[in-house]
Amino acid sequence: MTEIEKTEEIKIDLMQGLKRTHNCADLTDKNKDEEVVLCGWVSRRRDHGGLIFVDLRDRSGLIQLVFSAEVSKEAFDKAEKIRNEYVLMVRGAVRLREEGAINPNLPTGKIEVYGRELRILNTAKTPPFYIQDNIDVDETIRLKYRYLDLRRPQMQSDLILRHRTTKAMRDFLDKQGFLEIETPMLTKSTPEGARDYLVPSRVNPGKFYALPQSPQIFKQLLMVAGMEKYFQITKCFRDEDLRADRQPEFTQLDIEMSFIERDDILELMEQMIAFVFNEAIGAEIKLPIPRMSYDEAMNRYGSDKPDLRFGMELTDISEVVRGSGFKVFDTVLENGGQVKAINVKGNANIPRRELDGLVDYVGIYGAKGLAWICYTQEGIKSPIAKFFSEETLAKLASATNAETDDLILIVADKPKVVAAALGQLRIEMAKRLNLIDQDQLSFVWVIDFPMFEHDEEDNSWTAMHHPFTSPKDEDMEFLETDPGKVKAKAYDLVLNGTELGGGSVRIYNRTLQERVFTAIGLTPDEAIEKFGFLLDAFHYGAPPHGGIAFGLDRLIMLMAKRSSIRDVIAFPKTQSASDIMSDAPSEVSPKQLKELFIKTDVVKSKPKDQE
Ligand code: AMO
Ligand code: AMP
Repeated sequence: MTEIEKTEEIKIDLMQGLKRTHNCADLTDKNKDEEVVLCGWVSRRRDHGGLIFVDLRDRSGLIQLVFSAEVSKEAFDKAEKIRNEYVLMVRGAVRLREEGAINPNLPTGKIEVYGRELRILNTAKTPPFYIQDNIDVDETIRLKYRYLDLRRPQMQSDLILRHRTTKAMRDFLDKQGFLEIETPMLTKSTPEGARDYLVPSRVNPGKFYALPQSPQIFKQLLMVAGMEKYFQITKCFRDEDLRADRQPEFTQLDIEMSFIERDDILELMEQMIAFVFNEAIGAEIKLPIPRMSYDEAMNRYGSDKPDLRFGMELTDISEVVRGSGFKVFDTVLENGGQVKAINVKGNANIPRRELDGLVDYVGIYGAKGLAWICYTQEGIKSPIAKFFSEETLAKLASATNAETDDLILIVADKPKVVAAALGQLRIEMAKRLNLIDQDQLSFVWVIDFPMFEHDEEDNSWTAMHHPFTSPKDEDMEFLETDPGKVKAKAYDLVLNGTELGGGSVRIYNRTLQERVFTAIGLTPDEAIEKFGFLLDAFHYGAPPHGGIAFGLDRLIMLMAKRSSIRDVIAFPKTQSASDIMSDAPSEVSPKQLKELFIKTDVVKSKPKDQE
């Protein structure tokens, strides 16, 4: 027993004889004169001599408590001692505030509770930051004291939203006959394309499990098993470079169905999305959600996750400038590249300094240059105009819909580079010019993805979604002869330029599955070694099936209008995949390693964001 446990205060049950009657923010002027018992944390204390005001906070919100020696000397004396984040239990009466004391910014701003009895359930050290929203605190500190950070109203409301969202998902899917089935966390490697997190097996020396990158293979096996409609809200693990919308462990709403075709899935899923957005944030989503082919998305927006909340589409001006004599463009075009432009409306007077910055910006995405034409009141200003005839310039203006005051930005390169550079520049310019309506929810299905991606380094093909995705029927014949031409029955749901979910109709025929493995360079032996159990299962009557997985963290991030998924995960990891609060990952004892037959050979170093 520690010293503190021996003290009188710990021995008695401090809550004894009182029962909490309300949550703080559930009270309104309708509760006038009622005696209530509240519990919570001290958000703020103000001592006005004869009166002590305390803002008491629980999960529901804040309410003002008032202590005066006239109501209870004992409670008043105790209230003098309390500090921020002390844990209180209070019995008192609800009173209406005087006209001048009403706080219109607080839902409980018309009332206050006069404390008759005060119990200090626990004390607290001074927290490292104020527990309130919109404070400028370094994220590292917030993550180290995450349990304090999570006391902030915004964090609480985001986690409540997360709960409401998953509840709505479960309600919808249950009604549609889906079963929530758990799949293993200790598995064999899954093929989502990232690095695996490995777990050593003590009883199988030298062997490792992989944490699932997704339940992909298991959900397909559940279809072979005749479960027909499966879902699961589950953790996935991917060891990849982290960004604002990527975590090493994240949550998917994972779904698979049998006896369906692509449109059955898309239609059901958009109904679910509409239901969930309505239940969770009261949004009305207009159905059907528009669809766009991958090719169209790349051509018009330079991205397979186009943000459709604003225009500024990419225009192909290759034919306008072809053969004009401007060497940069001609060389690119002769080598199979293209020249594309965006029109930044009304921005012709952009400072030269900013233009130079944009050249550096597109450089990040591999562009070797950025040309511009400013259509100013005084005429065209452009370093490249001199290379073009009046006629070409007129055609260029008409192709890009350029008018006085417009700024045209041009990139010439390989299609992949043009798409990446101009696609990102489009978003960057829209942000700078405030063109994005933050209240809009702009959904789009991107469909008809290429089946394979070409890896230029080792001249091979990889599956763009995953190798269990079915090629489109009309493209099967090109699997061996022209893999680049094959489109897949794959789809992504995109919201405001973020990929929310992705899935596909699967291959259920063993021969076709083998052809796809061959196309990505897996020999039959390798395929059996990796996915033999799935191929075996396909011998026993696999039904036609397909599915999708949504990134739950991203979904909540967009619903809550936050800029990072870390904000909507209770205990997220940092950019370097560590948990600063618990100090994971950490070294383990030599004994543990010995039991696992593991020897490490590393130079000790701290993750970058903890230095
Ligand atoms: P995919 O790999 O496209 O598909 O993943 C589905 C969705 O999961 C989210 N997501 C992530 N969210 C946060 N952090 C990450 N590191 C991360 N990686 C992915 C995205 C993405 O759209 N098994 C297939 C689905 C299927 O075919 O049914 C799969 O996992 O929102
Ligand atoms: P240069 O001949 O290299 O001085 O380039 C002339 C103009 O063309 C400059 O404004 C460059 O920024 C622009 N430019 C160069 N390369 C490209 C490219 N790949 N795409 C678009 N513009 C380019």
